[in-house]
Amino acid sequence: MRIRYFGRSAFLIEDLLIDPYISGNRSCEIAPEDISCRIVCVTHSHPDHLGDAFEIAKRNDAVLVAIFEIAEKAEETGVRTEPMNIGGEIGIGDWQIKMVEAVHSADMGSPTGFILKNRKAGRTFYHAGDTGLFAGMSLIGGEDIDIAMLPIGGRYTMGIDDALRAVHLIKPKMVIPMHYDAPTGLNIDPQEFKRKCMKPVEIFRFNEEKEI
Ligand code: NI
Ligand code: MN
Repeated sequence: MRIRYFGRSAFLIEDLLIDPYISGNRSCEIAPEDISCRIVCVTHSHPDHLGDAFEIAKRNDAVLVAIFEIAEKAEETGVRTEPMNIGGEIGIGDWQIKMVEAVHSADMGSPTGFILKNRKAGRTFYHAGDTGLFAGMSLIGGEDIDIAMLPIGGRYTMGIDDALRAVHLIKPKMVIPMHYDAPTGLNIDPQEFKRKCMKPVEIFRFNEEKEI
């Protein structure tokens, strides 16, 4: 599948965009107008995740998938939405999307993560959003995760050591680290995470696209 990383926690997986923090993101040299997608998922309301989600959804006539309180705000601005809450699951196009917990804060609803199953490709992704390590990750480990996108930056999320413990609970076939770019005020080397991780780790340069 075609995966592109924009820095922070923003990914485009085929036609599904997650946490599009594009304007104001210094690791990302593109404009929101450069992104085409059909689905925009937002894990929580912090500006480095909600980012340009409303604008991109509107311009692409894409559907915005988020917790009820964010979806409500989006609808007020004329965005098509699929409101959800933790534990819920919906199908859109080739995707089966399940919302799961994240241990963090948020000013609209609760912070969340997503389990994203692409039925056509038979691949399952777990995007953790911003989170600390939590015991419920062992339940996510029962979902047969192919690729886990995990924050490793520390301070606002898990750091490298807790992310390594998360990998033990989630048991993904591969990990893509995220949320470690310099503007977080941290100086985290994803190569250190890769060296210590028991599972294959795929590191993306900012704006890099890979076929995985
Ligand atoms: Ni956050
Ligand atoms: Mn964040």
